[in-house]
Amino acid sequence: PSAPLVIAIDGPAASGKGTLARRLAAALGFAHLDTGGLYRAVGLTLRRAGQDPADAGLAARAAAALTPGDIAGLMADPELRTEATAQAASLVSVVPAVRQALLDFQRDFAARPPALAGGTRARGAVLDGRDIGTVVCPGAQAKLYVTATVEVRAERRLKELQGRGAVAIYADVLKDMKDRDARDSQRAVAPLKPAADAYLLDTSSLDADQAFDAAMTFVRAKPAFNGR
Ligand code: CDP
Ligand code: CDP
Repeated sequence: PSAPLVIAIDGPAASGKGTLARRLAAALGFAHLDTGGLYRAVGLTLRRAGQDPADAGLAARAAAALTPGDIAGLMADPELRTEATAQAASLVSVVPAVRQALLDFQRDFAARPPALAGGTRARGAVLDGRDIGTVVCPGAQAKLYVTATVEVRAERRLKELQGRGAVAIYADVLKDMKDRDARDSQRAVAPLKPAADAYLLDTSSLDADQAFDAAMTFVRAKPAFNGR
């Protein structure tokens, strides 16, 4: 079989990139990797150990020690999705050694996507994060950069948190999101930014179905995806 195809999806928090990535993967028969979950896993490991996520040395050590088994367990942990874990993830993600430690796992996933549920071979991989199109998979056959205004994104995240029964207020979520946007786009290594060849998808006034349709139209028009 030919080399797996890769779709790279980047964008800020709660822009809808994870939802879009899951839906594209399901429609195309591709495996999906939420790379934010890897940074969250490092952040959560430190929090559980009572260690400061802003300590670069400790963060680097925790990232290097994560095994694929640890990652699988943490990815399914409900605490991975809290805003406290997101903030810890954003702190550890500025550390170059942390990013380096997570690079092989991500590139390996793209090159050899795991089988889908039911054992079917995946025909490709969709990775979503902040630096997939720019750093992790610069050769991806299709790249999307998903955005929305910070107010719309804070509103979405608030709804998600409340839906899970968390106590959250809009002003706090908005502030956390602005902090994280600033840290993610201003860091020296692999900052959040669209790849030069990414398709910009502003979902501020699109629902998840409309975003999916626009993305699918873009992906299908790429020569590598002809006939999918
Ligand atoms: O779901 P949400 O967009 O809120 O966050 P996430 O994608 O789970 O990412 C959590 C944090 O991990 C981000 O704020 C980034 O600091 C970091 N991250 C990163 O640096 N690079 C990636 N490829 C993915 C996430
Ligand atoms: O992965 P990321 O943090 O970028 O966002 P997400 O977790 O996929 O989406 C955040 C929320 O926005 C979810 O509750 C989605 O149902 C909703 N949403 C969306 O994903 N896409 C839209 N175009 C509109 C809303």
